[in-house]
Amino acid sequence: MNRHRLSPLAVPLAVVLLSLSGACRPQAGGGPEAPPAQAPAWALAIHGGAGSLPDDLPAARREAYERSLAEALTLGQVILDEGGSALDAVEKVVTLLEDDPLFNAGRGAVFTADGRITFDASIMDGRDLSAGGVGFVEGVRHPITLARRVMQKTPHVLFVGRGAEAFAREQGLEFMPAEWFWTERRREQWERWKREHAGTGGKAAALAPPAAGFGTVGAVALDRAGHLAAATSTGGLTGKAWGRVGDSPIVGAGTYADDRFAAISCTGTGERFMVRAAAHEVVARMRHAGESLERAVHAVLDEELSPGDGGMIAVSSRGEIVLHFTTPSMLRGAADATGRFEVALR
Ligand code: GLY
Ligand code: GLY
Repeated sequence: MNRHRLSPLAVPLAVVLLSLSGACRPQAGGGPEAPPAQAPAWALAIHGGAGSLPDDLPAARREAYERSLAEALTLGQVILDEGGSALDAVEKVVTLLEDDPLFNAGRGAVFTADGRITFDASIMDGRDLSAGGVGFVEGVRHPITLARRVMQKTPHVLFVGRGAEAFAREQGLEFMPAEWFWTERRREQWERWKREHAGTGGKAAALAPPAAGFGTVGAVALDRAGHLAAATSTGGLTGKAWGRVGDSPIVGAGTYADDRFAAISCTGTGERFMVRAAAHEVVARMRHAGESLERAVHAVLDEELSPGDGGMIAVSSRGEIVLHFTTPSMLRGAADATGRFEVALR
């Protein structure tokens, strides 16, 4: 698949310099990648969702995606380069993408069948396999931060709905009014969905490919101390049924991190990733079959899942980065301590 290097005009100078100095390595989508001779001291990959960008995507919109991805990548790069933790990097990067109306997470997320916006998110710490997730929460500005609180402040892994919101209040997390999350583009997608799926009770939405629901966000990182972390956040699928929760808050399905192997964040039609325990399956293949990260990600997406189901970003304990998808596009970016810095859409 083609990679699109960052347009120099679209981003601040510092980012351009990094982009130009970055070694251009083959990514997933090309052939198997040899492990780097020396593991980078840190590595980071991000995604803004798998889906299908229209062929006639206006240049301004393409540049806006590239700019947003580059900003998120830069934020994580600074944290990791200064010795910050993988866990902080993935959380902070995801909160930035949650605030960005271009992506289907936090502000700018898709509408449920009945016109609400609800969030699913999870985060995992590869050091000790601790993890936290939230499902079907409303009004919380940063669902990924709530997921981290579940991980760090409770003995539990997953909180949903009203209970998760009550816990967010207890933790003093920021809430925003419903309108703050709304965007005209998502409202139009919802109106179109209503016309196309009238009378299905949302069932069709859960089964539909994620083409229209582009934009789940995620980040995976390896830090200088050798620790891995993964984070994923989403509004789910346009027209999702009341109570429907996808793979993103489910540890092992949409998100997984284990310091010994890899950190993974998924995007796509959640139900498909859930039944395969897709993120964990990558680690399982590395652990039990001795597969490389590259091979494991390809096996899960290309052989276990079906074409068009979605994509994954992953980083191994050796700093290898794999970005792979079976949809026509996946908004994504990768950076590491060797100077690699690139974003791509298709
Ligand atoms: N809305 C599906 C995805 O981007 O993950
Ligand atoms: N992958 C996001 C969802 O299905 O909700």
